[in-house]
Amino acid sequence: MTKKILILPGDGIGPEIIAQAEKVLAFLINERGFDLKLDHGLLGGCALDAVGAPFPDETLKKAKSSAAILLGAVGGPKWESVERSLRPERGLLAIRSNLQLYANLRPAVLFPQLAMASTLKEEVVSNLDIMFVRELTGGIYFGEPRGIRMLDDGQRQGFNTLVYSESEIERIARTAFEVASKRQGRVCSVDKANVLEATELWREVVNSVAKDYPDIELQHMYVDNAAMQLVRAPKQFDVIVTTNMFGDILSDLASMLTGSIGMLPSASLANDGNGMYEPSHGSAPDIAGQNIANPLATILSLSMLLRYSLCEVEIAEQIERAVSRVLSEGFRTKDIHSDGMNCVGTNEMGDAVVKALASIVN
Ligand code: IPM
Ligand code: MG
Repeated sequence: MTKKILILPGDGIGPEIIAQAEKVLAFLINERGFDLKLDHGLLGGCALDAVGAPFPDETLKKAKSSAAILLGAVGGPKWESVERSLRPERGLLAIRSNLQLYANLRPAVLFPQLAMASTLKEEVVSNLDIMFVRELTGGIYFGEPRGIRMLDDGQRQGFNTLVYSESEIERIARTAFEVASKRQGRVCSVDKANVLEATELWREVVNSVAKDYPDIELQHMYVDNAAMQLVRAPKQFDVIVTTNMFGDILSDLASMLTGSIGMLPSASLANDGNGMYEPSHGSAPDIAGQNIANPLATILSLSMLLRYSLCEVEIAEQIERAVSRVLSEGFRTKDIHSDGMNCVGTNEMGDAVVKALASIVN
């Protein structure tokens, strides 16, 4: 049966990097006979400009009838001053929440060819392979009440609410344990249970879910210590499970261990198999339209889409091998470039991956 993939290029570098993933998709459809139909939609600032909402109903309808979604990135300075509820980021949060994409998997894997590009010493990061499991539809990102209010003394006060219910914690903990059971079998749950009640409960619930997974080794770590340990000795981690905001911060931190945030894909999954796939990086408006953005995180996100939503594990692995091959051949976008390497643009990198893939699958 034909499977539909919804493509949301978004803003900034989004369209350029998505175009490279679409080259890979075109190859799969035209050269390998994959029965896929590509649909396109609007999300973020481009949607606001075109139809007046960052997450149009039309996009929700398309999303619901798709097997999976591939997203570029949203946001940019152009929309910073629009009313809060209409900002591009709100569109992203709304689609995550609407589709209940609560489990955000963010692998931080170092390609050995890029060990030099990391800001940390090679021996600290070599063979790095961490899987972040970030809670994505709850916590302080969504808690009510929220806002900016006027106090009696005439000054304004900003406020947000960190909330987690037991069921929200339980389901993300289960995801982490399941993921760990297919890896090294170790979960580190990151919280701030010494200060925040919401994460005191987090720790309690993670401990009770752990009873169902006797073979998984569970450790708890406060978020400040986790940030330090990620830079000091990142290889101690296998799976890190954490809240929405801590996961946002720590996954950016970990991306630099791998050389560039331009290398990190992500999958946001719901219970019903629905999934949205996007690079972990943002829309990088400062370099948009210059053909210098790194498309590899987006291409690797497509590989995650094929693996998790379409169960096409073989081609997913072949795409990962193609990325590895272009790195071995010396292709580098500006963000991962080093002396002696072949500095290429976004387009050329996309072409190189398709060429490598063609020689791997044939
Ligand atoms: C991310 C991004 C988003 C987030 C922004 C754009 C809303 O930083 O996916 O990590 O904070 O979740
Ligand atoms: Mg982020």
